[in-house]
Amino acid sequence: MSEQPTRIGILTGGGDCPGLNAVIRAVVKSASKRGWETLGILGGFEGLLTPLNYRLLDYKQMDGLLILGGTILGTSNRGRFAAKTGHGNVKSISQGILDEAKANFQELGLRALICVGGDGSLTIAQQLFEYGIPVVGVPKTIDNDLEATVITFGFDSAVACATDALDRLHTTAASHNRVMILEVMGRYAGWIASHAGISGGGDIILIPEIPFRYEKICEKIADRERQGRHFTLVVAAEGAREAQGGFVTKTASEANREARLGGIGEVLAAEIQKRTGKETRVCVLGHLQRGGGPTTFDRLLCTRFGVNAVNLVADAKYGYMVALKPPDTTAVKITDAIGRLRTVPVDGDIVRTARSLGISFGD
Ligand code: F6P
Repeated sequence: MSEQPTRIGILTGGGDCPGLNAVIRAVVKSASKRGWETLGILGGFEGLLTPLNYRLLDYKQMDGLLILGGTILGTSNRGRFAAKTGHGNVKSISQGILDEAKANFQELGLRALICVGGDGSLTIAQQLFEYGIPVVGVPKTIDNDLEATVITFGFDSAVACATDALDRLHTTAASHNRVMILEVMGRYAGWIASHAGISGGGDIILIPEIPFRYEKICEKIADRERQGRHFTLVVAAEGAREAQGGFVTKTASEANREARLGGIGEVLAAEIQKRTGKETRVCVLGHLQRGGGPTTFDRLLCTRFGVNAVNLVADAKYGYMVALKPPDTTAVKITDAIGRLRTVPVDGDIVRTARSLGISFGD
């Protein structure tokens, strides 16, 4: 007979995204099938610190969560736990915070803590694990920039949102013979821009992995003009940058958090309009990509991830993260997923497919 606690904890860290509640639901339901109780730690990792902030999650309260956007547990990407302060910089969590979190974890009588998050949150989770807290990770981020899983949940929903935006921008761009720029999220990776750009019929896709040149962008626009196509759809990742140029940011890196990218759309619009004389407009999609419910693909992925995270706890496979390795979900070490960015391969299938269609990357 196992004398291990029959209570687990779950928290959501970092930026929210569609599907967080679907993971919570799957965890609570499958834990309850095992006769375990689930505590939801509120407000991200901060809820683990004194005064403890949590609530019991009853499986009967999970109705409707499959499709609900956001996270019922709340989340945070700043505060005392922030383990990433800039692009790739990892900060160690202080001994005092680790002690407090561990003591509170024990006080709650938890068997394990399921941490749902992206690179920053999983970097925190790994430090908790190394400090003796049994942790299991679930990979979340619309940016899709985590290693060791072919996809993170939230990404498909963000791409669907960006593709829908492109469909809408297409008709207004065509009606007005304009250059229309859609700025999408993704931080230092061009996954959302490249996937939505192809799915939404973009003409130019600008991603951080392929620095652009204005001459090349304008050549493509001129080319389309010659073919009688008097409008052009540009999809720009927020991390897109000119060759030899830097990232465009809204704010410099603040203490305890990463720099906020954003503004490349406006920069591009001004330069394109100046160089081509064509009326150019920008749409910054922003947090619409993070709001709302998950797509069907994400609902299924979140459910598989949640159930398998509970299985990892049952198997005492701590320090691991659930991952998708089609056709199955699998377990990978959290350390295999964090600390480096998974970016769009510049000679991979996505970029080659786009180029074969005549889509320009501005290079
Ligand atoms: O990592 C997810 C993400 O949405 C990025 O794509 C974006 O750069 C960032 O978070 C925005 O963060 P915030 O919600 O703090 O503005």
